[in-house]
Amino acid sequence: MTQDEMKKAAAIKALEFIENDTIVGVGTGSTVNHFIDALATIKDKITGAVSSSEESSKRLIAHGIEVFDLNNVDVLDVYIDGADEITKHMSMIKGGGAALTREKIVAAVAKKFICIADSSKQVELLGDFPLPVEVIPMARSYVARELVKLGGDPEYRQGVITDNGNVILDVHNLNILDPKQLETDINAIVGVVTNGLFAQRGADVLILGSESGSQVIK
Ligand code: A5P
Repeated sequence: MTQDEMKKAAAIKALEFIENDTIVGVGTGSTVNHFIDALATIKDKITGAVSSSEESSKRLIAHGIEVFDLNNVDVLDVYIDGADEITKHMSMIKGGGAALTREKIVAAVAKKFICIADSSKQVELLGDFPLPVEVIPMARSYVARELVKLGGDPEYRQGVITDNGNVILDVHNLNILDPKQLETDINAIVGVVTNGLFAQRGADVLILGSESGSQVIK
């Protein structure tokens, strides 16, 4: 199986977690794109979706799936999203696609976070993948200096503006031994909107696509 086929296997398996007549929380990325395509096959059974990015909204709408404003939704049973890295403790790095803030917001509302990923995303320790941090543009240099004090090497993601009008710093070489604490510490820097550590609210279920198909890990 190719990496893309593993992503697709995980995405299709996630359909088993979708209840009839519910609104589904939908993440962002290439694995989620497979999920959206799969969701389209059962679109008549669901009420619609809440989306974490303009990119996912466009794909959902193109499939004829109604996209709801999160402010008008009280209950989200599940949020389905990919990850850049995930540990056995279900902590993740996310934001490779720059959608981390909306992803974190939708995940906060959902009762269950279901991570769909290919096996290359499973890691012992987070941090080989540079940690994305969404930053208010005028605070970019200040936040970068503060991130250096935390031991990281921030790199400005050139040419990328998030759906919220902000910029991304990708932080290399962080020593992420305590992801919950680092998530708090980075979010405390003035000018940071949020960072791509999803540790305080990690995944509840991991669906891992591998050579042998898809495996559900709780
Ligand atoms: C989007 O901002 C990210 O959080 C994605 O969930 C993450 O980058 C995984 O993307 P892929 O499914 O494309 O690997």
